[in-house]
Amino acid sequence: MIVTDSEQRISDICAGWRKDGLTVGFVPTMGAFHKGHLSLVEIAAASSARVVVSIFVNPTQFGPDEDLDRYPVALEEDCRLLEELDVSAVFTPRVDVVYPEDFSTGVYVTGISEGLCGSVRPGHFNGVTTVCAVLFGIIKPDLAVFGMKDAQQLAVIRQMVSDLRMGIDIVAAPIVREPDGLAMSSRNQYLSADERKQACLISTGLEAALSLFQTGERNCELLRNAFLDTLKDAPKLRAQYVETVDPDTMLGVEIIENPVLLVVAVFAGKTRLIDNILIEPEV
Ligand code: PAJ
Repeated sequence: MIVTDSEQRISDICAGWRKDGLTVGFVPTMGAFHKGHLSLVEIAAASSARVVVSIFVNPTQFGPDEDLDRYPVALEEDCRLLEELDVSAVFTPRVDVVYPEDFSTGVYVTGISEGLCGSVRPGHFNGVTTVCAVLFGIIKPDLAVFGMKDAQQLAVIRQMVSDLRMGIDIVAAPIVREPDGLAMSSRNQYLSADERKQACLISTGLEAALSLFQTGERNCELLRNAFLDTLKDAPKLRAQYVETVDPDTMLGVEIIENPVLLVVAVFAGKTRLIDNILIEPEV
């Protein structure tokens, strides 16, 4: 497994693979791996001859009051975990490599990126799309894997790749959860014992909404309320948003006729956690 912070080196390696007819699968990450990240790598490895993982804590997607300074970094352990998987190369660029002094371009996807996390984290998705466009330009992968945990990010990336004709197959990976249901996240390590205990109610609430749907309820307001009811006895949890949206456009839905995503952002103490569940009527 090659580990490099050199843009030239990773780009040459990937170009060599493509020349030899080997498909390149790419998993962009910010490191501090958990099983969710590793599942993305396995999905990439299952459908490409070579897998590249990037580890880069992208400053432009963090707001001024967010956790950039304390975002967990575990480069050695991350590389050790990747060694055990079928990864050919790890790209760990420095900030001034991704964003040289004269860097002047931003990629901004309108619409999809503006609601939900986009409205409470202004500029966040511009940072995500810009860094992904840069990384895609360096690696030039055939496919890239993104987790459904960040459902809006996935939809925004799909839109960018389609609009800019990037020719990359975007593969969605299911949400990997802790045994009690909490969606795995690098930010779970910020939680106090009490917050961690209560945080599992987020997935319980999503499941409660799904159960209500399965009894025949199609009114999204009642599904959202079922989620909120579950949080009532958890003093450490505070919902930031609870929305029912179309999974492709992220536009609000009130009556379920097609697949709908129940997407939530919840503060556990000061830590912001996101999660979602797909609600699919039978066709
Ligand atoms: P990061 O938060 O490190 O996540 C990297 C990838 O792992 C994303 O595609 C995310 O959706 C996925 N992921 C995180 N937790 C997951 C879980 N529990 N189950 C399945 N997949 C999960 O997302 C980013 O980094 C950045 O925004 C990035 C795309 C790298 C751009 O900087």
